[in-house]
Amino acid sequence: MNQLAKILPALRGFMAEDDIMPRLIKTAAAGDEPALSVTPGCADVVAEIGAQLKTTTGPINLVGYGCFAPVFPKLPAGRMAGKIALVTGAAQGFGYEIACALAAEGAWVALADINEEGVKAAANSINAERNASAIGVAVNVADIASLRQAVEKVVTEFGGIDLLVANAGVLRAGSVKTLSERDLDFVTSVNYKGYFLSVQAVAPVMALQHAAAPGIWSDIIQINSKSGLVGSNKNGAYAGSKFGGIGLTQSFAMELVEDGIKVNSICPGNFYDGPLWADPEKGLFKQYLDSGKVPGARTFQDVKNFYESKVPMRRGCTTPDVMKAIYYLVEQNYETGQAVPVTGGQVMLS
Ligand SMILES: NC(=O)c1ccc[n+]([C@@H]2O[C@H](COP(=O)([O-])OP(=O)(O)OC[C@H]3O[C@@H](n4cnc5c(N)ncnc54)[C@H](O)[C@@H]3O)[C@@H](O)[C@H]2O)c1
Repeated sequence: MNQLAKILPALRGFMAEDDIMPRLIKTAAAGDEPALSVTPGCADVVAEIGAQLKTTTGPINLVGYGCFAPVFPKLPAGRMAGKIALVTGAAQGFGYEIACALAAEGAWVALADINEEGVKAAANSINAERNASAIGVAVNVADIASLRQAVEKVVTEFGGIDLLVANAGVLRAGSVKTLSERDLDFVTSVNYKGYFLSVQAVAPVMALQHAAAPGIWSDIIQINSKSGLVGSNKNGAYAGSKFGGIGLTQSFAMELVEDGIKVNSICPGNFYDGPLWADPEKGLFKQYLDSGKVPGARTFQDVKNFYESKVPMRRGCTTPDVMKAIYYLVEQNYETGQAVPVTGGQVMLS
């Protein structure tokens, strides 16, 4: 973390009021050398930050840092008002729709994706629709240097991070007898390692906030899958990566509780409306139809009917279904380390 990325979350924590931390807004003109402009009269706060940072991350020199004035912009209304959320894999699909829903509920949202152009367009479309201040950030979750850069960007823009939605994920279905090692590595590096590294990049920011404001907690929510709870036929690389993700969630929950971070997974059922299934060229409907995976299927609808018939509620999962689980996990102050199914009854916990 650079110095600024250490100072801002702590500063934010010190300025917390009524369980809400302020967004810190850049005041220097673009391209200006950062100049110290901590609000006059806040010298005691700055000294406190220095002392606090000394205990948590080693001594740092505050002189010459800052270009930020703490501002409580009029809080938007909504159940996520005042929260800064980072959503990975947000150029499309669940990630994009989750980012839209969080913005609609008043969060300041950073959308991150390996598809830089797509994620910037996604953030712009949220801003155009809602007059929000979403940002789009390039990231490869399989690369810690890229993640650190993205996190610094978010912290520099907003001041901290209260909610990570670790959503970026990929799927390469195939038999264990034939799936290439390359595909296995690809799936593992995004779904498993990418989740580990995303938490590694974000947790220090959340820890700094909590050190400065011990009453305020942050959330890490991994978008897992029903395939993280039960095996998936000819889809072992994906299911294994998602099972592993739940192991990470439980372990991180135990470790990060001391930093005021709750860590949970959400395990959705099939999301037929998103591009992963519905893309007419590359989507799973097409792949499963072409490969004959669904016996007798002649159309996309046949494939859909086959999978829906496995669900007691006879339909796929939608983003509003997932959002209810996200709100539950953020608002519930007495739960961590859980994997919450959102599967219409397809997976039942024992
Ligand atoms: N679609 C489903 O039926 C379904 C069901 C259960 C769980 N999930 C999970 O939900 C999450 C999102 O799935 P989706 O259906 O929206 O997928 P999607 O393919 O529509 O979107 C995934 C996004 O992640 C991005 N991405 C891929 N690799 C990345 C990387 N290395 N770094 C950063 N971004 C990267 C992609 O560019 C894309 O924008 C995944 O974790 C998936 O496993 C999906």
